[in-house]
Amino acid sequence: MGRVLLAAPRGFCAGVERAVEIVEALLERLGPPVYVRRQIVHNVHVVADLTRRGAVFVDEVDEVPRGAAAVFSAHGVSPAVRAQAAERGLDVYDATCPLVAKVHAEALRYARDGYTIALIGHEDHEEVEGTRGEVPELIQIVDGPEAVAGVVPGESGKLVWLSQTTLALDEVAQTAKALRERFPQLADPPGEDICYASQNRQNAVKAIAARCEVVLVVGSANSSNSARLVEVARAAGAPAAYLLDDGRSVRAEWLEGVDTVGVTAGASAPEFAVDDVLAVLAARGFDELEQVVAAEETVSFELPAGLRAPRG
Ligand code: F3S
Repeated sequence: MGRVLLAAPRGFCAGVERAVEIVEALLERLGPPVYVRRQIVHNVHVVADLTRRGAVFVDEVDEVPRGAAAVFSAHGVSPAVRAQAAERGLDVYDATCPLVAKVHAEALRYARDGYTIALIGHEDHEEVEGTRGEVPELIQIVDGPEAVAGVVPGESGKLVWLSQTTLALDEVAQTAKALRERFPQLADPPGEDICYASQNRQNAVKAIAARCEVVLVVGSANSSNSARLVEVARAAGAPAAYLLDDGRSVRAEWLEGVDTVGVTAGASAPEFAVDDVLAVLAARGFDELEQVVAAEETVSFELPAGLRAPRG
């Protein structure tokens, strides 16, 4: 009989909880359709569920009827998108995670102080797109140590690094080190940009990886923090690690000759998808379950003022 090590914390973070609750509150208050720019969070189940309930996901705000309510996703938007929404008279509800908004504020502050900003992150990720949009002329994207060669500080020579919130800690440390080797004057951000949820989920998967022959990470393919969990699991000693949306994606060959399977979930993956994977594993004989807790989480973020439930 096989064993499952279930990592904790896993799954929904406070920013994702808040973003989903904003759309739910609007569906309840205004009724469908509620327009959302881009996927509210990067998860197929969350998007499908909200679509069923009346959310309409669009790529850009010009697809939203003038004057309608529109939600910005948890990944944040650039000022240009805010301006387009204002121009269309949209009633905007901002689901940007407060920890992403913090990086936007840092970028603006350093830009005002004359710095060029090396933003460590993935060029095509929505969060990076939004942050870069704050001061596009002063932000250079650095997607790993090999990209450091392309960084050119401005005339002041002042350079600071910031990062996307959902990267792997060790990877960012390597890129920051490569930046410092080339630019000794490099300033550090005031605090960690990688959010508490990404850090905790990475530490939790590290705690189980070496004890497992395979680690299954529940999350969608476009979820940055979920993809990082697969990499961290492998780097921490799991011989194999896979990303999957739910139990239907579990492949028989992943479990051949395996005694211990690790399971975790990215910050945008709902717990029912984890339960679904656990049920499939149990049906295949992995019916001994041990939860390994690497940290306790108590973070929560308030809904925007107009959407809070009245205090009872
Ligand atoms: Fe925010 Fe981190 Fe979640 S940036 S949306 S708390 S993964």
